[in-house]
Amino acid sequence: MFGKFITLEGGDGCGKSTQLKLLAEYLQSKNIDVVLTKEPGSTDEGKILRELLVTGDKDKFDAISECLLYYADRRCNLKKVVWPALKENKWVISDRYADSTEAYQYYGYNKRVDFQTLKSLYKIVAGDFKPDLTIILDIDPEIGMRRSFAKSQSMEVKELRFESRQMEFHHNLRQGFLEIAKREPDRCVVINANTDIETLHKHIIETVNERLGV
Ligand code: TYD
Repeated sequence: MFGKFITLEGGDGCGKSTQLKLLAEYLQSKNIDVVLTKEPGSTDEGKILRELLVTGDKDKFDAISECLLYYADRRCNLKKVVWPALKENKWVISDRYADSTEAYQYYGYNKRVDFQTLKSLYKIVAGDFKPDLTIILDIDPEIGMRRSFAKSQSMEVKELRFESRQMEFHHNLRQGFLEIAKREPDRCVVINANTDIETLHKHIIETVNERLGV
């Protein structure tokens, strides 16, 4: 595969979607063909899985079922969007990828899923494939949740299933992302997201230039 695969990760309200678009515009200005994708819900099948995941009763799935659904969505994203684009020499930027499963379903839920199970699922779904670069947007959950609440008020479709998660969950999640970055420093870079949009964008493109040489 010739293109590059960049993933953007972070807790709720870290500004991922805005930064994803700005990064895509920057890369396009450098004549790079960019494909944007997201998890969950980038394919027709994934949209159905997303609907299952983000609506309804908070306890309707246990942690394992939730992981399996995210991984089914991931497999669709890889096979239908990510891998074909990389083969065409395009760069793919994904709004969330496997680190979200580890952070949300493992660290967020106080390690209710076995770590090796998660790793095995990854292997089944993606083999040895991994992102060339993962940018983790780090924000204090108190600030992130305020931002994310403001955004949800203006959403047409209410994706409320995860709204009642406690602050403890969001703090665990943040620590989870930081642990992943510490474990895999060659792939992951943590960037402070508690800044204005322009400053954050500048830090992101500096990182991409440094790591991937645009
Ligand atoms: P997303 O649309 O990225 O929400 P947000 O705009 O809040 O970042 O993702 C939907 C939800 O799914 C979000 O709460 C994070 C969660 N999620 C997991 O719990 N595990 C996963 O593997 C992924 C990809 C997402």
